[in-house]
Amino acid sequence: MKNIVLIGFMGTGKTSTGRLLAHRLGRTFIDTDQKIEFDNNITVAEMFSIHGEQHFRQKESETIARISRYTDVVIATGGGVVLRPENLIRLKTNGVIIALTASLEVILERTSRRNCRPLLNRPDKEAVVSKLLKERADLYNKADLSIDTSDSTPQQVCDHIIAFLR
Ligand code: S3P
Repeated sequence: MKNIVLIGFMGTGKTSTGRLLAHRLGRTFIDTDQKIEFDNNITVAEMFSIHGEQHFRQKESETIARISRYTDVVIATGGGVVLRPENLIRLKTNGVIIALTASLEVILERTSRRNCRPLLNRPDKEAVVSKLLKERADLYNKADLSIDTSDSTPQQVCDHIIAFLR
């Protein structure tokens, strides 16, 4: 069976929804950020600060190339995975792509809870989020299905995805 691939901006619920979805469907769950951290023995935040964003993007693409060959898994990607077109092409060959979205307010609120996102660790965070959301909107729109998670629990988002896949 095809993989189920969650894309979307930081704070849209990819990891919590993906983990729950995998559990409900009895599939393996892969979070690309966690896999990059495990495989390289370094946190994403450390990778950004020591080696820079482009190094992280390279590791991210390598990880996507490897896991795109899997079948039957649920994959939660990092928010910037869409920045390199080849990532989405690879993920699509064997996967259904589902974009999670949320309002600016909800994204700001959710991403304030954990301070582990290097791109948002700055005083002008709201302006940065607005800018990145605009820049990436068309890229997230390439998904097969888009779900606004602003007012939904991960459980409800999973219900929506499962109904779509039937
Ligand atoms: C990023 C999103 C993060 C992580 C990295 C860069 C982005 O993942 O990959 O900090 O460019 O949007 P989450 O979307 O899981 O927070």
